[in-house]
Amino acid sequence: MTIGICCDHAGFDLKEELKIFLQSKNIDIKDFGTHSKASMDYPDVAHPLAIAIENQEFNIGIAICGTGNGMAMSLNKHKGIRAGLAWNEDIASLIKAHNNANILVLPARFIDEEKAKAILTAWLDTEFEGGRHQKRIDKIPC
Ligand code: RB5
Repeated sequence: MTIGICCDHAGFDLKEELKIFLQSKNIDIKDFGTHSKASMDYPDVAHPLAIAIENQEFNIGIAICGTGNGMAMSLNKHKGIRAGLAWNEDIASLIKAHNNANILVLPARFIDEEKAKAILTAWLDTEFEGGRHQKRIDKIPC
């Protein structure tokens, strides 16, 4: 499995920690940056990650910024993307089970590293339920 990952400066430290965590699980990572804590603009990494997933280079991604909202707003401009913001394990499971989120968005300034790992694990371990939820996500593109 390959996962694309991106962050802005607020999410840089957490991105580096999650890369180590994912590598320990033998998951390959494509890192879209940013690559330092220097201030930058989150759309500059969100759009390339979204385009790569729309082009089916890989199926899922993780995006991290301070609140998660800038990343979610940018990513969800793409028709092939369902980016879900999660700050606890229950929400992480539900954005997969009900929304089939193909990008997990994390709010780095509001969760610690251990919580982020727990959220990521919950999202990865949950299956999309399909059924009535498929009908609903089919209506999202406009
Ligand atoms: C950066 O200061 C901050 O605005 C950004 O990480 C994010 O929270 C935006 O949505």
